[in-house]
Amino acid sequence: MIDVSYLLGEDRRILVTGGAGFIGGAVIRRLLKDTDSIVFNLDKISYASDLYGIKSVVKDLGESGTKRYHFLQVDLADSEATINALNQADPDLILHLAAESHVDRSIDAPEAFLNSNIIGTFNLLQAARLHWGSLSMKRQEAFRFHHISTDEVFGSLGDQGRFCEKTAYDPRSPYSATKASSDHLVSAWHHTYGLPVVITNCSNNFGPWQFPEKLIPVVILKAISCQPIPLYGDGLNIRDWLYVEDHVDALLLAATKGNPGEKYCIGGNNERTNRQVVEVICSLLDDIKPLPKPYSNLIKLVPDRPGHDQRYAINADLISNQLAWTPSYNFESAIKLTLIWYLENLDWCKKVQYRSGYKGQRLGHS
Ligand code: NAD
Ligand code: TYD
Repeated sequence: MIDVSYLLGEDRRILVTGGAGFIGGAVIRRLLKDTDSIVFNLDKISYASDLYGIKSVVKDLGESGTKRYHFLQVDLADSEATINALNQADPDLILHLAAESHVDRSIDAPEAFLNSNIIGTFNLLQAARLHWGSLSMKRQEAFRFHHISTDEVFGSLGDQGRFCEKTAYDPRSPYSATKASSDHLVSAWHHTYGLPVVITNCSNNFGPWQFPEKLIPVVILKAISCQPIPLYGDGLNIRDWLYVEDHVDALLLAATKGNPGEKYCIGGNNERTNRQVVEVICSLLDDIKPLPKPYSNLIKLVPDRPGHDQRYAINADLISNQLAWTPSYNFESAIKLTLIWYLENLDWCKKVQYRSGYKGQRLGHS
């Protein structure tokens, strides 16, 4: 992990949207632990949200934690509430992570994705423009609006090639189409209104606190309860996995050192088929929590996701060369850390599943 304390000056005011989610939570915990910045967490609190991880960091920090962390329950689809939140936070930096993020849910119910990812980003951009225009020259120069996006906006790769900053957009799912729209809006606000933005497009993240509907936590929870582990289609779709703390490093570098108007692709150089990912988890479980039969016996091929992108892979040369970012975790050790975290936090998984009403059922395929 990089030392982020030097990246942020004293008393920097940072607004993180979507901070009650998986990646936003990791960003906020890092900012609270490793910097002096004042952090505002704007989140509407959805099924995927949880504040437990942040609250325990705030508690450990004592008085400095309660002084430096502020939660704003706001839905970005509400333009007035968004403007008020920006007035309250008065940020020097906005890290925009709030979004509906699960492809399978976007297949079942796309409208929420348009409201949060497109309208929400539009409202935030408008509020950010107003706010930025009201700042002193010195603060205006230092201000950044960092939009956090996904590699899924680039569509699907064949066997060869990797996505880079110049790759044409070709989104295929309702999720990726709304993220692509939000990227275009952010870019337009830079070119048209001069808003100093940075956009990052990252590959699949994994790590602690990920809501158990995404592949890795689904596999862990199904396996340890001896239920079938669902692999979509032939299990040969490829993702480029990145440990969430490495993503946080990249985000904080891009937000503070990135050039205004620049886009950076972020990826772990860890291409794996879904079957490989599932088999790694199964074999780790065979060692840690052995059953009479190997866990891989639980793997079950299920009907494919409609429009399932075949392969994602990222060429991260620009952020590596320009901002000296490089991942610190290797895939095998990070997946083991993640597995152990889930095994030690099964109560948290049960709690968030119960509260959200999500019981591990198949999504995105009626
Ligand atoms: P998540 O689903 O865990 O969390 C998203 C958070 O955003 C939730 O707490 C939710 O309540 C909040 N939110 C959603 N709509 C909102 C709205 N209208 N107003 C206020 N808050 C709202 O998502 P995540 O996995 O942490 O992803 C965060 C961001 O990173 C997303 O923008 C996603 O597109 C992007 N991203 C994710 C990955 C990944 O692998 N998870 C990879 C690349 C990029
Ligand atoms: P997911 O974690 O939903 O991320 P994304 O679709 O954004 O890449 O899924 C990762 C891959 O795993 C994707 O190819 C779909 C597949 N998958 C399964 O095979 N089984 C599952 O139960 C889930 C949730 C995903």
